[in-house]
Amino acid sequence: MKALVLAGGRGTRLRPLTHTVPKQLVPVANKPVLLYGLEAIRDVGITDVGVVVGDHGPAIRDALGNGGTLGLDITYLHQHAPLGLAHCVMLSQDYLGNADFLLYLGDNVIIDGLGPLLDAFWHSRPDAMVMTGKVANPSEYGVAQVGPDGVVTGLEEKPADPRSDLALVGAYVFTPAIHQAVHSVKPSWRNEREITHAIEWLMRNGWRVEAHLHGGYWKDTGRVEDLLECNRAVLDTAERSIRGQVDASCEIRGPVVIEDGAEVSGSRITGPAVIGFSAVVRDSRIGPYTSIGTDCDIVGATIENSVVCEGSTVRGSLRDSLIGRQARVNGDFGRPTCLVLGDHSEARLYGSAS
Ligand code: G1P
Repeated sequence: MKALVLAGGRGTRLRPLTHTVPKQLVPVANKPVLLYGLEAIRDVGITDVGVVVGDHGPAIRDALGNGGTLGLDITYLHQHAPLGLAHCVMLSQDYLGNADFLLYLGDNVIIDGLGPLLDAFWHSRPDAMVMTGKVANPSEYGVAQVGPDGVVTGLEEKPADPRSDLALVGAYVFTPAIHQAVHSVKPSWRNEREITHAIEWLMRNGWRVEAHLHGGYWKDTGRVEDLLECNRAVLDTAERSIRGQVDASCEIRGPVVIEDGAEVSGSRITGPAVIGFSAVVRDSRIGPYTSIGTDCDIVGATIENSVVCEGSTVRGSLRDSLIGRQARVNGDFGRPTCLVLGDHSEARLYGSAS
């Protein structure tokens, strides 16, 4: 079986970061989101992976190469404009051939879910299988209505009045029947060929679509708060590992990862937290739930529940923040500030926010 991983799209909900970095490469616990999916795919024994890329294709190719280091054989497929998930399947038809395949949305982090999904598919061999997960805000997802036998009886894309709390998670298993379906649907109001509509088309035309309920953790990391939540969930699985240098005046509490070459002095790090390769952290309080990227320079800072990407400098107090690469935060409002900064941005904070 091959996998088709979708890593195009504009990532508008993660601007300004996505002006310069694809949403699939934004790090969660210092690892690009896309790698969680690719590793999960490899771990279920799939090696042939088509990666659909858009405008940010070169950055994705730079990050993944031919997939060799991940144990994968990656083929890149180019989508010239973000015309929808079903359009991605259309343009990949030659690559996929006449075989079943796994479709994986590259901005989703799904923990321990693909093995059970594939087992369920092989067990009952429907014409398509969707993965569902219970959510509190179904209007923001594709939503499935599922009968007691697991057969999908209704599907809607981002309904105002959802008929269930079962969201479509970003992993699907398709038989070649989907190729006829993606050609048959028209673009939606957002000018995208929706995979949800293609699956509905299968249902209307007598094909059997089943749902597999994922009981574990998953997140669509398309928005800042979701990315921070995912960062918290992944950090919660971290185990303490101190490989960098930590001086005697530091206090390291709980599950903290300090990568090779990092230098931590005069600081308190409260886990779960990760300090990246060659980062410098001095006279600061970091964590909990904070990821500091490679080569960051953090001095006199307080940072909690945040992701700071590679090469950034922070002198100040941050909370619930997402800071891009090579960004600079200077100064303090006298209490923690929530910032979302794109790559190479600078924030100068003066005086009091009150
Ligand atoms: C897409 C799908 C939606 C699904 C979601 C999961 O939405 O269209 O059905 O629930 O992914 O991440 P998008 O995030 O592209 O708006």
